Amino acid sequence: MAEGNYSVTPWEVKGKVDYDRLIIQFGTQKITDELRQEIRSIVGDMHPMLRREIFFSHRDLDLVLKDWKAGKGFFLYTGRAPSLGMHIGHMIPFIFTAWLQQKFGVNVYIEVTDDEKFMRNQDYTLDQTRQWALDNILDIIAAGFDPDKTFIFQDTEYIRNMYPLAIKIAKKLTFSEVKATFGLDVSSNIGIIFYPSLQIAPTMFERRRCLIPAGIDQDPYWRLQRDIAESLGYYKAAQIHSKFLPPLTGPEGKMSSSIPESAIYLSDDPKTVERKIMKYAFSGGQPTIELQKKLGANLDIDVPYQWLYYFFEEDDDRIRKIGEEYRSGKMLTGEIKQILVEKLNTFLERHRERREKAKELVKEFKYEGKLAVQMWQKIHE
Ligand code: TYM
Repeated sequence: MAEGNYSVTPWEVKGKVDYDRLIIQFGTQKITDELRQEIRSIVGDMHPMLRREIFFSHRDLDLVLKDWKAGKGFFLYTGRAPSLGMHIGHMIPFIFTAWLQQKFGVNVYIEVTDDEKFMRNQDYTLDQTRQWALDNILDIIAAGFDPDKTFIFQDTEYIRNMYPLAIKIAKKLTFSEVKATFGLDVSSNIGIIFYPSLQIAPTMFERRRCLIPAGIDQDPYWRLQRDIAESLGYYKAAQIHSKFLPPLTGPEGKMSSSIPESAIYLSDDPKTVERKIMKYAFSGGQPTIELQKKLGANLDIDVPYQWLYYFFEEDDDRIRKIGEEYRSGKMLTGEIKQILVEKLNTFLERHRERREKAKELVKEFKYEGKLAVQMWQKIHE
């Protein structure tokens, strides 16, 4: 969907996204302060990603909270198209989903689309995308999900249980709708044309409202879901959308696995992190120390500041102080980069410890945990 000089689709994000305008374009709702306070009043605190508005937009989040208060509950659903190595931006929806699960105690379904990735790229083999799925699942588990209330599944394994539901969804969607929504054409392979029904199916895993935390790039799937869900006897899916962590190289677009200098991978060692930040992190600071001291930095375009603000510096007083000092020129570019390097390395070290422990939990999440056992017994109709 091109608008102004940016565009946001499930395959790519280009330009500097105007998130307020995106809300109007996509027909979603801004998360108001009132809604944030309501969440706080229910769960007792507020995740920094909500407070700092990296999760900024929603559909029917108010209805989810209403259902919750009325004792009807809800469930969470999110997903990942596996690739060779996840980057830090990919962790945003999983960290936030795990927090929501901890606070509300609800079920979480995580779809790992080894099929989607295989069909979307001519160069990938199915063996590769399945292997990446297994690897990425370790990073996902490391976000901190409850093994008895979380089901992680790969499409190529769980398809038998989803297929009846998927074909009911598929029958409601026409090629022309899917074509227009995803920009496909007659040369697209037919797997990709059918695929949206598989991304929609998990929204109907329970007869309660489904809340999807994800980047706003996934929104086109949910628009199709909302057109057809009620006719199949399910709720329209609710969403809570995040902004994108900008690439290291500048404030435009999103961090992308396919451009190594734009991303910090979860597997990057401390030296690599330091080298990448020092060399590539796009700075809103001035070109010389003298000018920086005199004029200060532009925080709007400064990537190290934005990463700290959105993700890595949770302390409100500290981020305010960093912002003030850097904007006024008291802090230099090298200094803010060093703060980010330390924060990133601490995060990555902890992540890798959790990832190691995750190796023992894979079976629980995929097959043997309480929810997983129930799911393998179910054929979704
Ligand atoms: P995928 O693998 O492209 O992305 C996985 C999740 O990560 C989000 N994301 C980002 N968030 C913040 N900053 C970034 N730089 C960034 N890059 C990616 C995406 O928005 C997404 O939430 N088709 C899906 C897989 C899928 C799915 C789902 C995603 C299947 N079912 C349900 C969300 C919810 C995909 O290709 O995601």
